[in-house]
Parts: sequence; C-alpha cells; structure tokens
Amino acid sequence: MSNSSPTYQPFQLDREQDYQRWRSAKLDNYSAMAADAVVPVQNAAALSLAEHAAIMERCGKLNLAIYTVTGEADTDKSAVRALGRQFGLETLDMNLRADEDSITSLRVVEAVAGTHYIPYTNRPLNWHTDGYYNRLNEQVRGIVMHCVSTSASGGDNLFLDPEIAYLLLRDENPDYIRALMRPDAMTIPANIEAGIELRAAQSGPVFSVADDSGALHMRYTARTRSIEWNSDSLTHQAVGFLSELLASDSPCIIRHRLRAGQGIICNNVLHKREAFADDAAAGQERLLYRARYHERIRGTGVKRIMNDEV
Ligand SMILES: [Fe+2]
Repeated sequence: MSNSSPTYQPFQLDREQDYQRWRSAKLDNYSAMAADAVVPVQNAAALSLAEHAAIMERCGKLNLAIYTVTGEADTDKSAVRALGRQFGLETLDMNLRADEDSITSLRVVEAVAGTHYIPYTNRPLNWHTDGYYNRLNEQVRGIVMHCVSTSASGGDNLFLDPEIAYLLLRDENPDYIRALMRPDAMTIPANIEAGIELRAAQSGPVFSVADDSGALHMRYTARTRSIEWNSDSLTHQAVGFLSELLASDSPCIIRHRLRAGQGIICNNVLHKREAFADDAAAGQERLLYRARYHERIRGTGVKRIMNDEV
C-alpha cells in the first residue's frame, strides 16, 4: 500500500470496504487491551525499548496508554517533555492558563478576577476532548498528563477512544457520521472576559480526517452552555446517541484514578474527571502536569493498525 496518498480511508463514508476491514481489526482484542492499559516504566524520560513498545502497542490499539513509574527517577516537567518526545510529541499548544513553559499545572486554585475554570477546581469535569475551541489548524492531537500527587479521595478519570465512538455511531446510523463531519456541526461562541474578546467564535466538525495520515480527529464537549450545535435533527440525534454512550457502562470506557508517579499519553481521547477532595493537612493535594501537543503519537495512524507499511 502506498504511504503517500490516502488510498486506505476507513473513516470516509463512501469507503465501506475500508471501514469494515478497519472495524474488525479495531475490535479484535480491544477489550482485553483496554483492561491492560497500564505499563510499568523505570524512567518515563528515558524508556527502554520494551517499555516504549508496550506503550506503542496500547496507543496503536486504544489511542492511549497509562504508564506507572516504578523507578526512583523524579518526574518533573522536563521529564514530561522528554516522555512526549519519544513518541513524536513536540509542538506544545499554548493556552490561556498554561504556565510559562506551556505545560499546565492542574490543581485547585482560587478564582481570579471573576473567572473560575472548572479544571482548576475540585468539581467534576464532564466529557470532552481537549482544545475543541482551538482554531482548526491548532487542534490538540496528543496529550501527556502526569500525576505528581493525588487527592485524598475521588478524581477518577474516564476515557473513551474516539475511534470507538465513531465506530458505534457509524454502526448505528452512518448519517450520524455525515452530520458530525459537517464543518458547521458545532460552534463555540467567542470567549469574552471583561469586554475583551480572548478567542473568536469557532465552528468546526466533530469528526475530521487528517489529509496526510488518514487519522481520525474528534472535537467534542458535553457542555450545554457555551456550545451551539447545528440545529439539524440528525445532528441532535447523533449527539444524543453519543451522550447516551458516554453515560453507559460500556466496557470500552476505561476508568482509572491516577496515583502519584502515573500518567497518561494519548491521542486526545474523550475524557471526563470525577469530583475529588484534597486534604492539605495530610499532604494529599491533587497536582497534575498536562502537556497538549499539535501532533498525534507517531505511528498510530490507521496504517499501523492494519500492519501496513508506514
Ligand atoms: Fe481535558
């Protein structure tokens, strides 16, 4: 198979054969791998070949891997950066609240100037992909999130592979995919604080396919405020189907509570976070480092899953 042109396009609706071939490969062994998503590593900044391969195997199948550091090596922000580089994650996304080095420290902080972003509270965070409000040419395709310290209780993360969401939607009704691929499927209104426009309104599709790699990308939020869905009835049915899936106990949804020294590397999969409680006196305060990248994890496109040459 050629590696230069998108000859194999399982995510295009008119390529039913490609889709069926990809679908059976995707589902093969999926649940077993989802139940075995955690990879022990000595030093996240300098993985062994076997550790790297184990993470790649999971990212190739699930679009995510959870690692747990077993060695003494401390995992500071530079180690998070070094971990990403081993998987082709280079270009950090800039966001409004990132620290100077563009790696965000997620922890409970006091509200400032009337704004209160839920990621910086201990409240639950509903299903979304990161950066869905970004410009379309600055989408977040890869994420590394590392847990420095964990809360006293709660704070579980749930993850769902967007390729599985796509597959279940397409199996239910291919027109759902058609609706969610429209360039005006969802619109995020402009972000205005104190009369200043921090971000312009952004319309775009839920599902899109990269021209070069043929990889699937998903933009989504379960928020009902600050989001305008296309008024088309198929869009509403598709979004309803998706929210039922996300609220279900599907075995494809991975639940994990990150402990200190653990982290996730993923192709910006769907995720949510449950509420948590810190205990400062006991030193149990949740702190995560999060790096968002414009690249996907290298070698996890549709060609890899089919064992074709890349
Ligand atoms: Fe997120």
